[in-house]
Amino acid sequence: MSSIDVPLRGNRFGSTARRDLWWLGPVLTLLGLGTFVVYATWAAFQGNYYRFGPYLSPFYSPEILGDPQHAWAGGWPSWWPSWAASAALLILWAPGGFRLTCYYYRGAYYKAFWADPPSCTVGEPRKRYRGEKSFPLILQNTHRFFLYLALVFLVILALDVWRALWFINPQTGQAHFGIGVGTLVLAVNVVLLSCYTFGCHSLRHLVGGGLDEVSKSSQRHYAYGCAGCFNRRHMMFAWLSLFSVMFADLYVRLCAMGLWSDWRIV
Ligand code: FES
Repeated sequence: MSSIDVPLRGNRFGSTARRDLWWLGPVLTLLGLGTFVVYATWAAFQGNYYRFGPYLSPFYSPEILGDPQHAWAGGWPSWWPSWAASAALLILWAPGGFRLTCYYYRGAYYKAFWADPPSCTVGEPRKRYRGEKSFPLILQNTHRFFLYLALVFLVILALDVWRALWFINPQTGQAHFGIGVGTLVLAVNVVLLSCYTFGCHSLRHLVGGGLDEVSKSSQRHYAYGCAGCFNRRHMMFAWLSLFSVMFADLYVRLCAMGLWSDWRIV
């Protein structure tokens, strides 16, 4: 059997024999995730401009506390610190934890944010490898539990799209069916989030794991095939859904601030 010798040229940080643009992926990840984290943190602390007509920003859904007219548990109690009076702060830990512990994102941000490793066959800044067996990275194993929460969030966001189809007539106060650009923005966001969630490695294991021969259960075999189909595009949906959820918040925010007009299609 023939073999190829691949020379190792030292193991200093960043040293490699690679000639391709290996650094481009980590740099784009750093910029993309960095932009999202900065924007999401800023938007979560605003606590306002998250609702416009029937549209609710996905960063603020479900609205557990907030606007007394709409929030599940009414307005903020008087003892609640005003700087933390934001419905987003109550809920964003769940979708945030889902993304943070995602198998794809882990591989991406380990490279981009702390160069562990910077890329395949590129010298690392450290010599020891501790894996994910000790604190804090052992917490990455909670991913499956965040998946359960993410599935609940998908249902809630889908209901938001349904509500975004009903506009209040200011003259009569009656709700009537309509479709605005905002409705489509929220709908596309739910579709992309679903494509991302349905391709989750944990979901694939949930529907197809635990069996010696998954093909012997036709329903689970079919579900496993569907999850595998989304899973093959998991990276693409991870990025598309990340930007769609950010854009959906931005859209609702700018409409609520009066800087953008929502165009009614129907
Ligand atoms: S592995 Fe990426 S969402 Fe579960």
